[in-house]
Amino acid sequence: MQTIETQALSVNFGGHTVVDEVSCQFDSGALTAIVGPNGAGKTTYFNLISGQLAPSQGKILLNGQDITSLSVHQRARSGIGRAFQLTNLFPKATVHENVRIAVQSRARKTLDILGLYRDGRDIYHMTDAVLEQVGLYSIRTQRAQTLSHGDQRKLEVALVMALDPSVYMFDEPTAGMSADEAPVIIDLIRKLKDQPGKIILLVEHKMSVISHLADRVVVLAEGRIVADGRPDDIMRSQVVQEVYLGKGRYRLAPEAS
Ligand SMILES: Nc1ncnc2c1ncn2[C@@H]1O[C@H](COP(=O)(O)OP(=O)(O)O)[C@@H](O)[C@H]1O
Ligand SMILES: [Mg+2]
Repeated sequence: MQTIETQALSVNFGGHTVVDEVSCQFDSGALTAIVGPNGAGKTTYFNLISGQLAPSQGKILLNGQDITSLSVHQRARSGIGRAFQLTNLFPKATVHENVRIAVQSRARKTLDILGLYRDGRDIYHMTDAVLEQVGLYSIRTQRAQTLSHGDQRKLEVALVMALDPSVYMFDEPTAGMSADEAPVIIDLIRKLKDQPGKIILLVEHKMSVISHLADRVVVLAEGRIVADGRPDDIMRSQVVQEVYLGKGRYRLAPEAS
């Protein structure tokens, strides 16, 4: 089993604690939805885990190993795969070339250990397989910059999949997508759940997506975990009624698109 854990993880910006001693463990085989109002600290929590941001306090452990002082790049190499909009994308290169570069960087990672992927054809085949999984195979010769918005988002998922990470992180992956594009991305994320040994973390507002995909829901508000459990139970809970229906002190984050 793979695990990623944060221990009393905190970060302050100008005296304001945005992530406040968050202790939480995520295990492989489960998709966890992280929900909460706008400004709750969800993206900041992701930035701490993937290494974009250094914590003021606390630790991050990947399979028990302390990765808190590793760079973004080192964390990516140790298996943390965060999908980013259009980062690491070469606009003038084709879809196939973009994914192949990602597959190659992963092949380099495993080369010394396993002696695999020596043959360039393997890299080609692995690239094709990823493109088929995300539904971009038929447009693999198109330049990345010519893709539709929805296809670009698929390519971003493909780039993360190409690295075969143990932790997949998606921060509002369907934000700004049209009603017919969003289900394709959601379906891709759902398919990732079929791969054994994966930890999937998803920041998402849409209730329909959460109830459809999540095995567990963690609710963040004001930088703290205020609820953690099975989706059905969490959705019915008092705190989520407050967060989502604005009944209490927490205001609802607006439903994206
Ligand atoms: N780099 C930063 N510097 C200062 N304040 C920040 C920074 N990043 C985020 N914040 C603040 O931290 C709070 C949490 O932001 P964020 O993690 O983006 O929330 P969420 O993703 O849950 O909507 C917000 O009040 C935001 O303004
Ligand atoms: Mg955010």
